[in-house]
Amino acid sequence: MLHSGLWRSGRCISQTELLADFSVVPSDSDPDRAMRRLEPWKIAVIVVAVIVGLALIIGLITFFLCNDQDRYYNVSFLITNVNYDPQYNRQTTDEFRNLSEGIETMMSEIFKESFLSKRYIRSHVVNLSPDPGGVLASVVLVFKFASADSEATTWGHVNRVLRRRLKTIPTSLDVDQSTIRLTELNKKNGDNLLNNCCGIRRQAFSFTGVERITGGQRAREGEWPWQASIQLDGSHRCGASIISNTWLLTAAHCFRGGTNPRRWTASFGILLRPPKQKKLVRRIIVHERYGNVVVDHEHDVAVVELASPIEFTSDVHSVCLPEASHIFPDNSSCFVTGWGALENDGYSVNQLRQAEVKIISTEICNSRQVYGGAITPGMLCAGYLEGQVDACQGDSGGPLVQANSRGIWYLVGIVSWGDECGKRNKPGVYTRVTYYRNWIHSKTGI
Ligand code: ARG
Repeated sequence: MLHSGLWRSGRCISQTELLADFSVVPSDSDPDRAMRRLEPWKIAVIVVAVIVGLALIIGLITFFLCNDQDRYYNVSFLITNVNYDPQYNRQTTDEFRNLSEGIETMMSEIFKESFLSKRYIRSHVVNLSPDPGGVLASVVLVFKFASADSEATTWGHVNRVLRRRLKTIPTSLDVDQSTIRLTELNKKNGDNLLNNCCGIRRQAFSFTGVERITGGQRAREGEWPWQASIQLDGSHRCGASIISNTWLLTAAHCFRGGTNPRRWTASFGILLRPPKQKKLVRRIIVHERYGNVVVDHEHDVAVVELASPIEFTSDVHSVCLPEASHIFPDNSSCFVTGWGALENDGYSVNQLRQAEVKIISTEICNSRQVYGGAITPGMLCAGYLEGQVDACQGDSGGPLVQANSRGIWYLVGIVSWGDECGKRNKPGVYTRVTYYRNWIHSKTGI
């Protein structure tokens, strides 16, 4: 029974060792013997326990050292070589965009080429105010720091890099160094500040292997945070856009089923079920001149007031409305989003979808083989003459948006009508938001 190479006590022992074993008086108090009596499975359990324990400790250490968290700062300073322009009062003007873009580019140059380059996320100008010495800028900076880094240390890093690099980098903006104030914002205040700015997308979304189904792709949470669903007796009817925490903008034809606010609700988040938030409707205002003519798509615009304000988060907040005078160039790229059908006469879907479309000039869209003169100044065409990619039934009322050079999203159109979906020479027709900009202001104050 005994032969060399017997496995015992978790190690291989030779016959000589075994013989030596028999030559001594067996005693329970001999620790060596106690060890040898350990069964192989017990050893295995001990080894596994030790490995798990070590892994846990290593995991916890890396969690505390490498777990990144967003940190927000507010920096303000005086720009001395720019005169205040009253247009800086409105964030949606070209003047505001130009100066803000200059400031944001300067901020990214400051941090991108410093040792904080991996930590810097973005900067966002939140206010430009008048000052006898020029323009006072207020900017939110977002960084990702390890949660183990102390607040004082990281504030010191940001402050030092900011002051040192502002002196050395070439920039067209003159910043008065003595006016620089850097304060750390807590997460709640930082989040609130950014979520209350229209048209911001909080994360960067890149196109990573999303599948294409009939011309569109599935949207991810936070990608189109202004998208709302408006529902009649609890079922999805139309899309809508959040333009403030109490107002939605949508299409007038969505209310052919009636305008009794008590039957309507609005939901937010990329899924219809379950939604991120849901609200009751207080009031529905359809354009006065909509529906005066039978089968007419003119003035297809309505605003919806909610019974209680939406709680703005990084996944649910407003889109910017363009100035009435703004021109979105023909051929420029936009995105349309909605829960509408994937094909003509299809069903609505539960997860929001998006499609990239291009603005088509009214001249082309009104040509004989396209819509033969049906496009009025309050409408805008977007899509492709070759078809395939388009909005469809159930997308109505939803947003057609475009990002400006600062990466801020503006509402270009409201999904309105089309001859079927994705048909050749029959692109989507949208309500032109700039055309109704003043009407929207007159009803909502926005
Ligand atoms: N009227 C449709 C609706 O109620 C949307 C039409 C959009 N059609 C199009 N081909 N783009 O949902």
